[in-house]
Amino acid sequence: MDDIVIGIDLGTTNSFISVYTRGRIRILENERGARVTPSFIYFPPEGGTVIGEYAKTMSLQKPENSIYEMKRLIGRQFDDTYIKKLSTYFNVTQREVTLTAAKDAGFTVLKLLNEPTAAALAYYFVNDITENHISLVYDFGGGTFDVAILEKKTDNVEVLCVNGDTQLGGHDLDNCILDYIVEVLRTDYRYNTKIDPDTKRRLRNKCEVAKKDLSSANEAFITINGMVPKHPRIIITLTRDVFEEKVSKLFKKTIDILHNCLVESKISKQSIQEVILCGGSTRIPKIQEMVSEYFGHKKLNKSVHPDECVAEGAALQAAMLSINKKQDIKQLKMVDVLPLSLGFSSLGSEMVVIIRRNTKLPTKKSRVYVNGEGDGTSMFVRI
Ligand SMILES: Nc1ncnc2c1ncn2[C@@H]1O[C@H](COP(=O)(O)OP(=O)(O)OP(=O)(O)O)[C@@H](O)[C@H]1O
Ligand SMILES: [Mg+2]
Repeated sequence: MDDIVIGIDLGTTNSFISVYTRGRIRILENERGARVTPSFIYFPPEGGTVIGEYAKTMSLQKPENSIYEMKRLIGRQFDDTYIKKLSTYFNVTQREVTLTAAKDAGFTVLKLLNEPTAAALAYYFVNDITENHISLVYDFGGGTFDVAILEKKTDNVEVLCVNGDTQLGGHDLDNCILDYIVEVLRTDYRYNTKIDPDTKRRLRNKCEVAKKDLSSANEAFITINGMVPKHPRIIITLTRDVFEEKVSKLFKKTIDILHNCLVESKISKQSIQEVILCGGSTRIPKIQEMVSEYFGHKKLNKSVHPDECVAEGAALQAAMLSINKKQDIKQLKMVDVLPLSLGFSSLGSEMVVIIRRNTKLPTKKSRVYVNGEGDGTSMFVRI
């Protein structure tokens, strides 16, 4: 049993587990037979813990006993606006807490991989590219947005630059639709009662369904039963045009982050040979249109599964790192970069950056910090 290696994609919305054996990657099914497990936890009053689809259902019945979107919360304090403001990426504490959680669950963690890097590994596994090749991964998930530019050489994949936003995902698109629905209820139905959190959550779920419908239809319908007096059943039509207008700022933000990543890496758009889409939100036609347009109407690469490729890439990396020689996998050396700036701050002051984001790893730096009272405190950071 010791030599089984798996890849886990711990997503804001959904999680996947995959395993690499005998040259093939397989996504594992959960006890319900599904490949996808919603990232929900439910604590039944009688004790125990339930995860996945049932926990998602129960989050509507008993929100006070449920946790979801924990990836946005993990490793944070309740009043944690300071860290939130600083990070463009999954922060150090969040990474440490994730590692601790995995160890507590009985796993030996071989590596914590950034999502777009994992997606790129899955891409290079499916597409056997031998010549030097530069790709860009655009990963728009449920809670986070990530971009990575990678270069594949004969036997290695080097991450050249990453950028992202930990607070930008499909969930935020759902909230924009929710704001629109509340606005329609106020203006068209004069419904000015404060909407309680439970009702809001149910409405937001309907908004998510409508959003997904709009990826394959021009209009979607949101039905509201028994909420507004004298209007037992309200059906609100949401067109693709209205949806795109309501979320346009967020879509534009992803393109700005993508642009900044290219500027920072000093790589021209023309040098990007393949744009790889990853994450459930890349199914949105307007997103595909905007990304393609940014690259001069380039055909986007959809050869990896947008939901499953991160777990697949993680399983591949695990197999490469595994000591089990039976894995029989072509080794690709990964050269990664620091996904976020590292530094320190005292009592909420601005962070003093010691090692900049996008510094090639491994790296080593030291600096002496002298605080306001004149005490010398030496700080040494090594990665
Ligand atoms: N057909 C679709 N059209 C639009 N959005 C979709 C579609 N399918 C899934 N999504 C959205 O994709 C998001 C989930 O994507 P994904 O599973 O990649 O996220 P995640 O890995 O859980 O989150 P993250 O990587 O941000 O932590 C949800 O917001 C979901 O509503
Ligand atoms: Mg994801």
